[in-house]
Amino acid sequence: MTAPQILVADDLGQAGLDMLSEAGEVTLQTGLDEAGLREALRGKDALIVRSATKVTAGALEGADRLTVIGRAGIGIDNIDVDAATARGIVVMNTPHAGAVTTGELAIALLVSMARHIPAADQALKAGRWDKKQFTGVELTGKTFGVVGLGNIGRVVASRGVGLHMEVIAYDPYVTQDQAPEGVRVVSLNELCETSDFVSIHVPLLDATRHLFDRTRLESMKKGARLIHAARGGIVDDEALCDLLESGHLAQAALDVFEVEPPDVEHRLRKLPNVTMTPHIGASTKEAKENVSRDMASQIVTCLKRGVVLNGINVPRVDPATAALVAPYLDVTRDVSRFLASLFPGRIEAIRVTLQGQLLDRAADSVTTAAVSGALAAASEVPLTPVNAMAVAEKMDVRTYTESAAMKQDFQNLVRIELAVGGERHQASCTVFGHRHGRLIDLNGAMMDLIPEPPLMVTSHVDEPGTLGQIGLKLGELGVNIDRMSLAHPDLNESAMAIWNLTEDMTDEQVNAVRDLPVVNEALAIARAVR
Ligand code: 3PG
Repeated sequence: MTAPQILVADDLGQAGLDMLSEAGEVTLQTGLDEAGLREALRGKDALIVRSATKVTAGALEGADRLTVIGRAGIGIDNIDVDAATARGIVVMNTPHAGAVTTGELAIALLVSMARHIPAADQALKAGRWDKKQFTGVELTGKTFGVVGLGNIGRVVASRGVGLHMEVIAYDPYVTQDQAPEGVRVVSLNELCETSDFVSIHVPLLDATRHLFDRTRLESMKKGARLIHAARGGIVDDEALCDLLESGHLAQAALDVFEVEPPDVEHRLRKLPNVTMTPHIGASTKEAKENVSRDMASQIVTCLKRGVVLNGINVPRVDPATAALVAPYLDVTRDVSRFLASLFPGRIEAIRVTLQGQLLDRAADSVTTAAVSGALAAASEVPLTPVNAMAVAEKMDVRTYTESAAMKQDFQNLVRIELAVGGERHQASCTVFGHRHGRLIDLNGAMMDLIPEPPLMVTSHVDEPGTLGQIGLKLGELGVNIDRMSLAHPDLNESAMAIWNLTEDMTDEQVNAVRDLPVVNEALAIARAVR
């Protein structure tokens, strides 16, 4: 197997680069435009970007084997996630590594704006000693409205409490009991109408584009001050200029802009009541190293073990659960593919039944794995956790997930049932010792099978010596057997053997086994392409 090819298209800290180099071959190519990125992506397994590189649908046309895009940072608006999803590519970010640093910049903007620190500094350095001009406002006791209580908003809100401000917050997904201590959750209207300072900490989404439009900015208390270190596009910059010019808003401190960098002639650059920084929210030594280390470790985990942490376009599973669940996903995918190969035909429905608390916590991921395996042969596009459910819907395959107690001997168990041509077939699987996936039941017959391809399945007469004949034939054909399992599922009185092999079999080799008089049918299941 060749080493994974990893393209790093923006600056990444050395610690992360070192980790990536241990796991694969790293190409560092920055400053790529769409065409350049398209070419650079050919033959790459993973791509890492910050915010500078735009990962467009056009660039992704070059992604002939890309499985994962890592955004070393938080905002993912420079990545066409829909285009990546359609290609089955996982998109992940590092939501925690830069949160404290970005929150601290918002607080720095709050304090330096309130005390005119940048302007005072400039004046003093220009030779003036002007105390009156720089009369500021005190923060203690002022109402501080934090919009968004995610990883960054929580840092900002708790620092606001530390500054003895009256902190209120708006977040449609956070209730009062989930808010940081000392923070009162209110509506966005109340926040805007009552806050002396407002700090924005929401991602840029369709729903948040121009969340602070002219009407919202006008609804802010007269003389209020705005801090914005989230994402350009959430605030209408032109409307903001008007309200700062009219004096409705006293000041703004901005780290992000609708167009970055803003035009040299942009009004914002000229307004004396605006403090500006060039999108440096995540730019501290510590955050850069943390982001680079987190992203490198997530990419390595994804490439090596197929475990997705902080995925944007895959079912979310917490990191502790993800590591425990990963072997269940592998065995579920293999068993589902095995079942679909054994009982070919159009799959009408896939029903996944889960037993055990661990699997309940990752129900969506397990279902997705079952669907990827079952439809692997029938799908026109390679299936991954990213696109499997959408492909199933397109192929008109119904999917169901339920929890049930099935076999008390097992703590965690997955049963996959396929409806094929009006019949139902099922197999159950589990993991022994945290790592070893096993198929333990096929259509009601107990088994102990490692369902990992390459495999050959034979149905044959149930007489002494039959297995010996098949084994001899495989030896003659030069096929190396790793392991063999027996079953007596409902196969018209035949016996069944499943042979774990070390290499994929050719069609000729399978035909030679099928031609044995004792063999009714032989079927090979090759290693998955992807
Ligand atoms: C982020 O979304 O993480 C910040 O905006 C930082 O972006 P950057 O990676 O370009 O510094």
